[in-house]
Amino acid sequence: MTRLNWGMIGGGDGSQIGPAHRLAAGLDGLYTFAAGALDHNPAAGRAFGQRLGLAADRAYGDWREMLEGERNRPDRVDLVTVATPNATHYEITKAFLAAAFTSCAKNP
Ligand SMILES: NC(=O)c1ccc[n+]([C@@H]2O[C@H](COP(=O)([O-])OP(=O)(O)OC[C@H]3O[C@@H](n4cnc5c(N)ncnc54)[C@H](O)[C@@H]3O)[C@@H](O)[C@H]2O)c1
Repeated sequence: MTRLNWGMIGGGDGSQIGPAHRLAAGLDGLYTFAAGALDHNPAAGRAFGQRLGLAADRAYGDWREMLEGERNRPDRVDLVTVATPNATHYEITKAFLAAAFTSCAKNP
């Protein structure tokens, strides 16, 4: 099966659900964790993303930066998980869907 490039928004260091998603996504070998904007604090998100193995240019500080950074890459993420607080899901999910990414919000 085709391996998909997966991105995550939210799920930063110390978050409750982020680790479970990363663990589960790694179980079947079908996802490559390729990009993320993991924290409401941009510096913390960039640093944590790199600690998790993301390339420096794909450990984004903000989901808008991630959208712009991924949009025109040939190896752009195929889908994103939105694991931020609920009130932010609509805006983030709408923006990624409008750019033709697949998006899955936790508790949309
Ligand atoms: N905790 C659970 O057991 C559980 C179970 C099912 C679903 N969920 C859902 O998962 C989502 C996240 O829950 P949680 O418990 O992990 O919350 P959390 O508060 O523990 O973590 C939220 C994470 O999102 C980051 N974040 C906040 N705003 C951001 C933004 N604008 N851009 C990037 N990152 C941002 C925070 O820095 C933090 O790392 C919620 O929608 C929640 O309802 C949680």
